[in-house]
Amino acid sequence: MCGIVGYTGTKPALSFLLDGLEQLEYRGYDSAGVAVLGPKGAAIVKSVGATRELREKIGNNTMASGTTGLGHTRWATHGVPSERNAHPHAAGPLLIVHNGIVENSRILREELEVQGEVFLSDTDTEVIVRLVNLAMATGRLPLADAVRSVLHLLEGSYSFLILHSDPAHPLIAVHRGAPLVLGLCDHGLFVASDVTAFPAEVGSTVFLEPDDLLTADPSGAYEILCISSGRKREACRIGRSRTEEHGKGEYPHYMVKEICEQPRVLAELLAGKIASGPGGLTVHLPPKVEKVLSGARRLRIVGCGTSYHAGLLGKYRMEGLAGLPVEVEIASEFRYRDPILDPESDLLVALTQSGETADTLAAVRMAREAGVPTLALVNVPGSTIAREADAVLFLEAGPEFGVAATKTFLSQIALLTLLSIHLAPEERLREKTGLSYQQLLSEFLELPRRLDKSLSLSSSIMPLAADLASAPIVLFLGRGGDYPLALEGALKFKEITYIHAEGYPGGELKHGPLALVDRGTPVISLISPDPRLLPKMVSNMQETLARGARLTGISSESAFSDMAPVVSTELSLPDCSPIFFPILSSVPLQLLAYHTACARGLNVDRPRNLAKSVTVE
Ligand code: M6R
Repeated sequence: MCGIVGYTGTKPALSFLLDGLEQLEYRGYDSAGVAVLGPKGAAIVKSVGATRELREKIGNNTMASGTTGLGHTRWATHGVPSERNAHPHAAGPLLIVHNGIVENSRILREELEVQGEVFLSDTDTEVIVRLVNLAMATGRLPLADAVRSVLHLLEGSYSFLILHSDPAHPLIAVHRGAPLVLGLCDHGLFVASDVTAFPAEVGSTVFLEPDDLLTADPSGAYEILCISSGRKREACRIGRSRTEEHGKGEYPHYMVKEICEQPRVLAELLAGKIASGPGGLTVHLPPKVEKVLSGARRLRIVGCGTSYHAGLLGKYRMEGLAGLPVEVEIASEFRYRDPILDPESDLLVALTQSGETADTLAAVRMAREAGVPTLALVNVPGSTIAREADAVLFLEAGPEFGVAATKTFLSQIALLTLLSIHLAPEERLREKTGLSYQQLLSEFLELPRRLDKSLSLSSSIMPLAADLASAPIVLFLGRGGDYPLALEGALKFKEITYIHAEGYPGGELKHGPLALVDRGTPVISLISPDPRLLPKMVSNMQETLARGARLTGISSESAFSDMAPVVSTELSLPDCSPIFFPILSSVPLQLLAYHTACARGLNVDRPRNLAKSVTVE
């Protein structure tokens, strides 16, 4: 979603702003703009499309000398993608860039029009800047007071930066629900939607919190006020991690780089969680995580998109191994459904890569208000959900820039599987898996090497992908823990190939989707090595074959060798216990989507209409 970056300091702002906007591209956007203050007021340049086009349009514009400015990537909500609607927006001497939604903007706009304001865009953003400008003019208020005086009028979850064209006024940032972080360095300060927008010299950061108003000037001085009380808030400075990885390296796209990083990501994740001691291998979790888990009698997992699919797999594992009841729900449904929450028994588990997804955040807040403890599985340190949840387990996947979630999904399902093993009574573990706690943990530690083998399927997947590139529809089937994987395989596929894809439990085929299968329909079948499910899946495959399906099977080496040949393409994974199969099978599903999108010549890392961080409802 929209990306914000602002700078005030002693160096020319423009290149910082443009570089910052490029780093924020991964969030998804359709237009971009910058404004830089200069001796003759503010210079504004906007363009539709990539930030590269904005750079080209600016060329050698003299705005390059100003040392205070704002930049923005816009993901359209109010009004089509166009220069007219791109940010920054202006009213009088003020300029604004904004992320989030002002839900009552239409009413406010009508009221302002009655007062004679003439709008130059269709955005909700322009409502904010016009209100502030009027408050400054009519109330003769300083900028920060004028901003504070209008905030009670604005409904919704948002953040913005506002600048006066007279540099004597400070840069103002407001956090009302959408993330903002302050970055400090020796030549000034930055404010942005996330730390990726900061240059290397930013050594420390301060995460703004909801209800914060920041004032900052070019000397690097800043102050944070609590909007509702007007009191100053002490800033908590956090040193910046130097390990953040940027760039695609030798890879053509972030997505494939992130897919290929998975063996390392899993190895590092497990190294920090599974320790070897005198009693053998044990799972080590942060004390706060242990505490919330030990009090839970029922898990309420919430998430959106891929994170929701990870949650579904978590249900199979937690109920299957740990015997702990689990409800999983899409966060946007949960929050408006009046769910019955029980503080005595429930633990809300929020799954989110970004830690900023608006609906997941709302679910966390609902749970906290109801007195239900919250545990978040989050990738981005310092994100809003990571800060608001009672306990956090980090996915430790490193920055994920491709809009399609890959390595973070792997971390989510690996952590949920690990937690299930950790919480399971030993007898139940043996009964359900045939293996002991020790045996399962040592097999878990083997998985990164097996993931390497899963990655080597890439060359067999390419010709299949070339074939799928012209298919009108692709069906993904699975049973048990492979059913969430079938859903995820279909989501990944449709998200970046724009080909219609459906994920179904194998047992549902005859209840409707089999009608879609015709001569040549591609069907991707996840065939779990679980002896209870394997024969059922084989029957489902026979049913699709009988209708002419082009069948691809994803299974383990020994399952394929025990099976009569039914599939036209075999994607064979290293053998593993059935509970680990989804961890290995997620890789060919990701590669299938990736290679098909490449075969169609699409923008793999930034699929149309989608954003990496969905900070609005
Ligand atoms: O940051 P989150 O995990 O909360 O994001 C949730 C979804 O928006 C996200 O998983 C989305 O479905 C992915 N782009 C899918 O690849």
